[in-house]
Amino acid sequence: MARFFITGDTHGELDRKKIGTRYFPEQKELTKNDYLLITGDFGCVWSLDNTDKYLIKEYEQRRFTTLFIDGNHENHDALDAYPVEMWNGGKIHRISDTVIHLMRGQVYNVDGVKFFTMGGAESTDKQYRREGKTWWAREMPSAEEYEEAMANLAANDFDVDYVITHCAPEAVISMADNVFARRPNELTDFLTRLITIYGIRYKGWYHGHYHKDLDMGKIHCLYNRVIEL
Ligand SMILES: [Fe+2]
Repeated sequence: MARFFITGDTHGELDRKKIGTRYFPEQKELTKNDYLLITGDFGCVWSLDNTDKYLIKEYEQRRFTTLFIDGNHENHDALDAYPVEMWNGGKIHRISDTVIHLMRGQVYNVDGVKFFTMGGAESTDKQYRREGKTWWAREMPSAEEYEEAMANLAANDFDVDYVITHCAPEAVISMADNVFARRPNELTDFLTRLITIYGIRYKGWYHGHYHKDLDMGKIHCLYNRVIEL
């Protein structure tokens, strides 16, 4: 049976100390049949230079398979340029043998565990960023991606084990208003509707984006911790 670990934004080499052996010692017992999920802002498909290559190779050398959803701080054009493959029931971009981008609106069944994934988020600092260099309009899902998410969830009766997103449902953002200090948008509204209108069932919902470690019932904001599912 595969083991699944999950953590928040890694931002290329900036925030990956938390997945070193000091803070994530369990990785010594893992194999490539076990997984580390990163809840967006992976940041290793970014400048398409040697830094990306070095970081991806470094993940490749770890004793686990790396799965990531996209956040806002990704080079979305570069991710979109990878060929789409099917993997455990959902669409992926394979960045290298064991570094896999889980695409938006997918449901995967990995060793009997179902994951719904919905990457993307709105950058709050986009006015300070340059389009195509440090900011991409594709940070937010397209109409087709929302539709695909709904169709895949409907096919699974809105019943999964884990929901993996970069940003949080609006209801949670308002609960943690003083902590998250973000405005609702189309994507956070969509995630809220999954709960309030469609009654999505899940054991745990994990997201990143706000650079905090915070638990709100079954919804968990991840940053500097690695949790085993
Ligand atoms: Fe981030």
